[in-house]
Amino acid sequence: IRMVIMGPPGAGKGTQAPKIKERFSCCHLATGDMLRSQVAQKTPLGKEAKKIMDAGGLVSDDIVIGMIKSELENNKECKGGFILDGFPRTVAQAEALDKMLAEKQQKLQHAVELQIDDALLVARITGRLVHPASGRSYHSTFNPPKKHMTDDITGEPLIQRSDDNADALKKRLVTYHAQTAPVVNYYQKTGIWKGVDASQEPGQVWKSLLNIFDAKP
Ligand code: AP5
Ligand code: ZN
Repeated sequence: IRMVIMGPPGAGKGTQAPKIKERFSCCHLATGDMLRSQVAQKTPLGKEAKKIMDAGGLVSDDIVIGMIKSELENNKECKGGFILDGFPRTVAQAEALDKMLAEKQQKLQHAVELQIDDALLVARITGRLVHPASGRSYHSTFNPPKKHMTDDITGEPLIQRSDDNADALKKRLVTYHAQTAPVVNYYQKTGIWKGVDASQEPGQVWKSLLNIFDAKP
């Protein structure tokens, strides 16, 4: 499978994408996770990116395009296809992706938009808990870990993302509507766009996604 999953902050991209990865044996590339790993390693890029991310802005197209290109070329898991989560976020990124794929005689097959009202996102974002090493996320109310503030699989502590507060969320939403919503139009024009109601509970969202691919649960 070759697809992108889109949607505003908290729509559920990072919740659904690992399930796609497992179901279709493809790689899951999340530019936000890649950038957070740079931040954690305190690389020069990470230090620059942290300021932008905490302010709800976008890291430069060149940087994220380079990251995706390198993964698609070198990550063996991507041989079976890919799901991109958080990329493309600008029309320039979408064009760069098409170009990258065309060089390999490939085309994107699906661009799925997780559709949800902004008003529902505050509760999702402010309650999110993440396991930094794996990118696994939980929710204090909607999807609590088995043990308080602890990752179910490794037993390691869960943290809150530094951009997961109501203030930064407002800015992330402004950025989404201004810069990323046009990417939805871009894919509507090419005919590969599909929308899914992301306000449903996670299991139902997953079923709606499978319907798009005509796959059985
Ligand atoms: P990124 O990490 O991509 O953040 P985002 O787009 O803001 O999306 P989130 O990760 O917040 O939401 P999600 O949709 O994954 O939700 P999740 O499944 O976790 O990017 C971060 C930053 O990096 C950007 O702001 C930017 O600065 C930079 N960046 C990244 N990519 C870039 C690019 N391409 N170009 C430039 N800059 C880039 O769910 C959220 C919560 O809700 C969880 O707690 C979850 O348990 C819960 N939940 C999920 N689904 C449901 C449901 N159906 N019902 C109830 N609760 C649910
Ligand atoms: Zn995410």
